[in-house]
Amino acid sequence: MNRIPIWMDCDTGTDDAVAIMLAHALPELDLKGISTVCGNTIQDNAYWNTHRLNSLMGAHYPVYRGAEHPLLKPLKTAAHVHGENGLGDVELPIPEDAVVRDEPAWDAMYACALAHPGQLRLIATGPLTNVAIAFTKHPDMPKLIHSVLVMGGSAGAGNDTPAAEFNFFADPHAAEMVLHSGANYVMCGLDVTLQAYFTMEQLDALAASGTRAGWFTKACNMRAWKILSRFGMKGFCMHDSCPVMYVAHPELFEGRMAGVVVETRGTVTLGKSVTDLYSDKQFPFKNALVLLKVDREKFISILTDCILSIG
Ligand code: BDR
Ligand code: CA
Repeated sequence: MNRIPIWMDCDTGTDDAVAIMLAHALPELDLKGISTVCGNTIQDNAYWNTHRLNSLMGAHYPVYRGAEHPLLKPLKTAAHVHGENGLGDVELPIPEDAVVRDEPAWDAMYACALAHPGQLRLIATGPLTNVAIAFTKHPDMPKLIHSVLVMGGSAGAGNDTPAAEFNFFADPHAAEMVLHSGANYVMCGLDVTLQAYFTMEQLDALAASGTRAGWFTKACNMRAWKILSRFGMKGFCMHDSCPVMYVAHPELFEGRMAGVVVETRGTVTLGKSVTDLYSDKQFPFKNALVLLKVDREKFISILTDCILSIG
C-alpha cells in the first residue's frame, strides 16, 4: 500500500494526544513529523507531551518546537479543560532517548513539504500560528502541499466564546491568513467534531482493555469530562482525530465547499468563522471544504481499533 505522507502540528493537549495515536496507528498514513504550538497549554508542555506520546507508543517521531504565543493576541491556555500539564494531569515519562532538534516548526514542515511535493497532508489540531508563519516565510508552501486539514472554527456556535471555537479564537489572525493562503483547505470545525464522541461506556471499555493506550485515552480525558458533562454533552468529543481520520477515510464524512472568513476585529465575535453555507449572499470565493457530518459509529470503531493496536 502507498501510505499517505502526513505532518501534524499540535497543541498537545488531551484530544491532540488521541489524534497523534490515531495518526500513528492508521495503516493508510505515514506520519513524517510533529511540530508543537501553544494553545491548550504552553509551548513547553505541548513539546514535551509530544515526546511523552512517543514513549507511550514506542515510537520515535521527530518533534519540533514552534510558537510560544499567538501572532498578535496574548496567549490564553485551557488548563481548566486539559490540565496544568496539558494531558489532563496524567503523568507519562519523557523518553530517555528524546532528541531535541533546533530546527523550528515552520522550517521543519516546509522541508517535509519539499520532500513530498504535492503529496503532504498538513494536519493542524491547534491554533494556526505555526502554519501561518510557515506559509509567510515560505510563500510557495500553500501550493507545495496537497492540503491543509484543520480542526478549527464552526459554521454554527462557538465553544470558547459564544461565537468562536477555541483554536480560531486563540489565534484568529493566523486562522484568517491560512484560510486565504491559496492552500486546499479542509475545515473540520465543531459542526462535525461534536459528532465524533466516545460514550463513557466506550471509554470504560478502552480502559478495561488492559492496554496502556486504552487506559491513557480514558485517564487523560476525565478532567475535561467534569467540565464538559455540565454542558449536556453526550460524550467525549475527539475533535482533533477528525482531520486525521478524514485523510485515511474520507468516505465517512460529508461536507460542502464554502466561502469562509475569520472575524479578526469583532468584540463579541472575535475568532468566529463566518461561512456562506446558509446565506443568500455568497462570498465571491469558495476557499474551504467544510465538513458537516461524520458516520460516528464507523469513526469510533476505527479509532478504538487503532488505540487498542498500540497496546
Ligand atoms: C479544540 O480546542 C482544543 O481544546 C482541542 O484540543 C481542539 O483542538 C476544540 O475546540
Ligand atoms: Ca488541539
